[in-house]
Amino acid sequence: MVTESPSLKQAITPHVYINQLSAHVDQEVTLKGWLYNMRSSGKILFPQLRDGSGVVQCVVLKNAVQPELWESLKGLGQESALIIEGKVRADSRAPGGYEIDVTNAQVVQEVHDYPITPKEHGTEFLLDHRHIWLRSRRQHAILKIRHTVVRAVRDFLDNDGFTLCDAPIFTPAACEGTTTLFAADYFDGEKAYLTQSGQLYNEATAAAFGKVYCFGPTFRAEKSKTRRHLTEFWMVEPEMAYATLDDVLTLSERMLSYIAARVLADRAEELKVLERDPAKLEAIVPPFPRLHYDDAVKMLQEGRAKGLLEARFEWGGDFGAPDETFISGHFDKPVMVHHYPAEVKAFYMARDPDRSELALGVDVLAPEGYGEVIGGGERATSLEYLQQQIATHELPPEAFEWYLDLRRYGSVPHAGFGMGIERCTAWMCGIEHVREAIPFPRMMYRLRP
Ligand code: 4AD
Ligand code: MG
Repeated sequence: MVTESPSLKQAITPHVYINQLSAHVDQEVTLKGWLYNMRSSGKILFPQLRDGSGVVQCVVLKNAVQPELWESLKGLGQESALIIEGKVRADSRAPGGYEIDVTNAQVVQEVHDYPITPKEHGTEFLLDHRHIWLRSRRQHAILKIRHTVVRAVRDFLDNDGFTLCDAPIFTPAACEGTTTLFAADYFDGEKAYLTQSGQLYNEATAAAFGKVYCFGPTFRAEKSKTRRHLTEFWMVEPEMAYATLDDVLTLSERMLSYIAARVLADRAEELKVLERDPAKLEAIVPPFPRLHYDDAVKMLQEGRAKGLLEARFEWGGDFGAPDETFISGHFDKPVMVHHYPAEVKAFYMARDPDRSELALGVDVLAPEGYGEVIGGGERATSLEYLQQQIATHELPPEAFEWYLDLRRYGSVPHAGFGMGIERCTAWMCGIEHVREAIPFPRMMYRLRP
């Protein structure tokens, strides 16, 4: 039988959110939410209500409510939808500092057999139930911190004179290598590719606005099943005209330390839920160590000589996850590794005028094994050089004609970077895997829910 959703009775007392209870001590209020947990001891029920803003323990005395109400509350299962009316009582022993003495309640939907129980579930089970797993306290804390990371990024760039100029998601060609492109059928047999980065478009808008950023979803058909890789992730990308690699290093360290400070200031409660040591975030203050690629290679080779690293590392290679972890293990702040060999970097990177085998690029490696959170650098300015790079990288020249116009009309040194929001969030939270740092993760083997 299909039933209409129940019509909600009008509560007399004002609706407040659990995170506003401090302003309503000793007042009668209405809370609207879901049952998080229920304990009972004879003539008292202790339903814990969650409403998205927090969790509060309520107290129902059998003698203080209507018998029908007592009966209807008694057997409620987890995630039953519930409206509660009661008086706010300050109680220093209560988690959160307040309790609700219930005077009335309305069961909006009675639920039994909620699939996620307090017992341990496997990761696959939880990911299959991501649509409801989001309600649990830990996931809630992680996504609140993600929200703060995003806000911090926007506030930081907006206050620093950057203009938001978003880049398209359907693009005609690769920006970050042809091996990780997702293709879609566009019209009349033409292929479109989901963007890997908004950077090339940022270079156009930077020439129009000076300092810009784009912020949106990006896609990589990466066949890697690591704790750092998603196939769809969010990236913020600032780009500056008349700027160099050095400006990118400075902006990276300012932005990352601003984010850490905001998470510490605005999300203390959530960090506690995650048992994240705030000292790890307090350490993220400028200046960050700067490490030339040559010196990073020496570090890896010494590590290998001491038996601390398994694989040997030759100058010229790109770092793998164990290499990055080993390098960043020397520091309690992010380390900025710069001047990588141009061979292992994207086609658009400017080269070091004194050592043309090196690119003016940087990877910012987060501490504690979180790996690269920022990648960026200075862009090549020469038309001829880029034409040659497009040919060497076997990119379709017609798709880059517009990009080359930027080198024909007012080409200047410019630079920028990209930061992955999930990697940054996972690091702030101190969690194992980036998949929990986005509401609905997309990975090689996961497209659902
Ligand atoms: O180093 P990447 O590939 O750099 C670029 O795309 C540049 N075009 C950005 C720019 O200069 N405007 O990616 C930048 C960042 C990485 O440092 C990482 O934080 C994140 O994006 N990232 C990923 N995050 C999750 N899953 C993946 N598969 C990621 N690939 C990159
Ligand atoms: Mg990179």
